Amino acid sequence: MRYYLAPMEGVTGWIYRRVQHECFPAFDKYFTPFLVPRQKKVFSAKEIRDILPENNEGMALVPQLLTCRAEDFIRGARMLAGYGYREINLNLGCPSGTVVSGGRGAGFLGRPKLLKEFLDEVFSAFPEPAEKEGGMDISVKTRLGMEDAEEFVPLMELYRQYPLKELIIHPRVREDYYGNRPDWDAFGKALSGTPFPVVYNGDLFTVSDLTRFRKRFPGVDAVMLGRGAAADPSLLRQMRGGEALSAEELQHFLDRLAEAYAEVLSGERDVLFKLKELWSYLGWLFPENQAELKRIRKTQHLSEYRAAVRNLFRIDNGGMKC
Ligand SMILES: Cc1cc2nc3c(=O)[nH]c(=O)nc-3n(C[C@H](O)[C@H](O)[C@H](O)COP(=O)(O)O)c2cc1C
Repeated sequence: MRYYLAPMEGVTGWIYRRVQHECFPAFDKYFTPFLVPRQKKVFSAKEIRDILPENNEGMALVPQLLTCRAEDFIRGARMLAGYGYREINLNLGCPSGTVVSGGRGAGFLGRPKLLKEFLDEVFSAFPEPAEKEGGMDISVKTRLGMEDAEEFVPLMELYRQYPLKELIIHPRVREDYYGNRPDWDAFGKALSGTPFPVVYNGDLFTVSDLTRFRKRFPGVDAVMLGRGAAADPSLLRQMRGGEALSAEELQHFLDRLAEAYAEVLSGERDVLFKLKELWSYLGWLFPENQAELKRIRKTQHLSEYRAAVRNLFRIDNGGMKC
């Protein structure tokens, strides 16, 4: 089984990925949170930092683009090729209101004619796969549709017309956001007659979730982990048969992360914001400690934050749920 770290805007940026990679076994692939290629200055300074090879050393990183304009995708992909990237992922899953109303992300799934034109243009700009000189692999991360899983049948017919490197399926519709359950029946239907590898993504939070998935889909050999990996940074190791997370390990990871954010971000507030955002997932490890988690959320300064985290570990006494 191969394991990918999911792109999570605001969570799995380069600093997080680097510290995660330093402290835990490596994922087979990492994806950047979506980058939005624009006409003039193709990427923002923040986006460039996210993809700079020296910020991502030793990792197999795939940049992800979010756009519904083929020319912007092509321009972005060419720029990324200049940094050495040979695979680009297209985001067809983002459910956020502004993204969808602009016809991007999951919103693109509701406009299949335009999506076909987009893919035609992109694949004629990049007709060769990465193994050929000057070639580029294109992969897609998709939901099932906007409102109804039935939309996925024609969408799969469309995808099958292109030489995708792989198709990552998060089997929810846009309307689900992250609620309801991933639709495994719809996912299963997408597997037959598909000429490229299919990767599964959605609600794999524990080793037993993975076991259940593998039993049902023994032919799928790659999965992508998002919130589960953010909640427990040792999840991949456990899925590979390794040890559970220890309190010391988590403390070390958090210290490294705080240091790394402080080196790069300008103020204490920004560092705290990042750390607290991660705690909205890490909190899953401490279901019995809501008061201590709230204290972490309320902190205004790093010194207070550190004391609140120390307090949580003291109270919890090593009994994390992982
Ligand atoms: C806060 C947050 C940010 C996300 N940002 C992205 C993104 O930039 N690109 C993307 O394709 N998916 C994004 N996703 C979706 C995840 O990659 C993933 O598909 C989703 O969380 C389901 O997988 P999981 O159940 O393993 O978390 C985001 C999800 C969350 C919760």
